[in-house]
Amino acid sequence: VQHILSAEQFTTEQLAEIFTRTDDIRALLDSDRQSLAERHKGIIAATLFYEPSTRTRLSFESAAQRLGMGIISTENAKEFSSNIKGETLEDSIITVSKYADVIILRHGDDDSAERAAKVSDVPIINAGAGKGEHPTQALLDLYTIKHAKGRTDNLHIVIGGDLEHGRTARSLARLIALYPGNRITFVSTPELQIGGDIKTYLESKGTKHTETSDLSPALRDADVVYWTRLQKERHAGSDMQSNFSIGQSELDIMPEGAIILHPLPRNDEIQTVVDSNKRAKYFDQVQNGLYVRMALLDMSAKDQV
Ligand code: CP
Repeated sequence: VQHILSAEQFTTEQLAEIFTRTDDIRALLDSDRQSLAERHKGIIAATLFYEPSTRTRLSFESAAQRLGMGIISTENAKEFSSNIKGETLEDSIITVSKYADVIILRHGDDDSAERAAKVSDVPIINAGAGKGEHPTQALLDLYTIKHAKGRTDNLHIVIGGDLEHGRTARSLARLIALYPGNRITFVSTPELQIGGDIKTYLESKGTKHTETSDLSPALRDADVVYWTRLQKERHAGSDMQSNFSIGQSELDIMPEGAIILHPLPRNDEIQTVVDSNKRAKYFDQVQNGLYVRMALLDMSAKDQV
């Protein structure tokens, strides 16, 4: 069973394979949508989301349907599954694995995907686990970087915002560390710095990284600016601010060839004035999410493993 649990599980060879499959599927969506829609008839994907989502859930459901799969789902697994009656995640996963060929799981616990994988005999795809990891987001982020910049190495990547709680930043940092010559500048307030485990991981891979709360110098030679929102839902009872906003004055500092990414949803950390700038690529990420997730489902479907 080929689970997708952490960005740490991938090699550069596997990433190249996923991105090649993504390009193939993207081309087929233009040229032969009908054959894609026949590809996985009879396969069922389950989306089990205990936390809210727009992009991840709907892109996976769209991806599954475009590949001919059926979908089973619950509107809000936290409230409308038997979780509300006290069922454990493990018992729910065992149950759903009897009905589906692949389970796409979002849950508030950092270790939820690993726990689910231990009891599931169908692939688990981690669609966001607490403040731990969001590996499929990192895959679509890297795919977007590859297409926009033409490479995934020798880049200066500025990652900013709520890095303490932002699982997408954590997963992306792990992928960036696989390629030579990349360096990361983490920009956050001192309270919202990236976890020590990620810094240790980067050091183990020899990836240069620095931390700062001074945005402007970091932007001056950035190739990629990846911003994240303040995760208010993980700051119970706090009025913490992230203190950063990307707008016209930040665009004026950034190189012309830089790109701006955000996993979305955003609040006010990227101003809407940025949206029409050619460097803004966050809605390309949304589109690429469909393609990458189609490739992942294509590769993870039970009849393929
Ligand atoms: N990027 C992301 O995970 O978005 P959603 O929460 O809308 O799925």
